Amino acid sequence: MILGLDIGRQFVKAVLLEKTRGGTKVLNTGIRLVPEQHKAYDPELIGKPLWVMAVRELMREMKINPKRVRNLVTGLNGTNVSVKQITTIDMPEDELFSSMTFEARKHIPMDGSDAVIDFQVFGPNPKEVDKIDVGLVACTKKVSNAHMDLLKEVGFKPGIVDADSIAITNAFGNGNEFPEEGAIVLLDIGSVSSSLVVWGRKDQFFTRDIPTGGYHFITDLSEKRDIDYITAEDEIMRNGISSFQNGARNDLSDIAVAERNVFDNLIEDLRRSLRYYAKTTNQSFFTKIMLSGGGSSTQGLQEMIENKLSLNTVLFDPFQTLAGYEKLEVSNPNQYAVATGLAIRGGLGK
Ligand SMILES: Nc1ncnc2c1ncn2[C@@H]1O[C@H](COP(=O)(O)OP(=O)(O)OP(=O)(O)O)[C@@H](O)[C@H]1O
Ligand SMILES: [Mg+2]
Repeated sequence: MILGLDIGRQFVKAVLLEKTRGGTKVLNTGIRLVPEQHKAYDPELIGKPLWVMAVRELMREMKINPKRVRNLVTGLNGTNVSVKQITTIDMPEDELFSSMTFEARKHIPMDGSDAVIDFQVFGPNPKEVDKIDVGLVACTKKVSNAHMDLLKEVGFKPGIVDADSIAITNAFGNGNEFPEEGAIVLLDIGSVSSSLVVWGRKDQFFTRDIPTGGYHFITDLSEKRDIDYITAEDEIMRNGISSFQNGARNDLSDIAVAERNVFDNLIEDLRRSLRYYAKTTNQSFFTKIMLSGGGSSTQGLQEMIENKLSLNTVLFDPFQTLAGYEKLEVSNPNQYAVATGLAIRGGLGK
């Protein structure tokens, strides 16, 4: 059994998988809120004690004893970890290690501690002779230690630690084909930030952390409508993006002023990232956008992204390609994309 545990900044999600002869089977799932219930959520107040409590409670609900978990896979979010595909001159392994450590420092927000890296040589670069493509994953020692401490405090023996962006890629790659021509866009809309992945079989793996998520949808609505956080949250949960149009209409100044909102910013960020990808890789054919993360359940958002970017946009259900999914009772399957991808990673090569 493999436990994929996605310790998000607002919800902890768990997916329990089993490798069977025929493939992968999902056994159980669970979700738990990290902050205090019925209070305005403030990401600044989230820290180790709340995470430890939430994970422990979730394990208790799922009847899992952390001490007994042998295959644990957890993830680090895109704000804390950098995943890059790098093209470099071919060199021996030890030189590559120092070169990649140097490279890593350019991509992670340094916090006074050293960089921790992991890399994998993909092979020769198809376009330039003497060059190789390398996948580099990096974070700081502080981030890595804090994560390990959290897991130990829950009672786990730390296992594989992956990056959220790689997890959503694995979740999608399990049972779905990456396009032969063109690249696919994966977007996991979390609470505090969103992970964007662009990848085609022949093209570069690209990922970026977009600093917008469900929390910002709510705070933006709360400011625009001058309502408190809880009311804004209820409103978004019920009416999605149309909440922004339901403002008081009794004031002349409201007429026809299409105010820019948080969704326009998110879409603009996406557009800019895709343009950047097209420019650096010469690949400008995007086959579709797969949405995941809790924020992707926002009513009307999928259609809005589809219309504004003119790209087929689909809600991604990570369980659909797994055995046992018909027995699951999950209301927001898309919210489990990272947890599922983490668990799938734990089953790779076994
Ligand atoms: N039905 C819904 N409509 C709108 N928003 C929703 C809905 N369900 C969940 N959300 C939003 O999804 C977000 C939580 O999603 P998720 O669990 O993916 O975040 P997280 O992993 O905890 O955060 P992060 O990835 O930023 O660390 C919250 O902002 C919540 O408001
Ligand atoms: Mg998340």
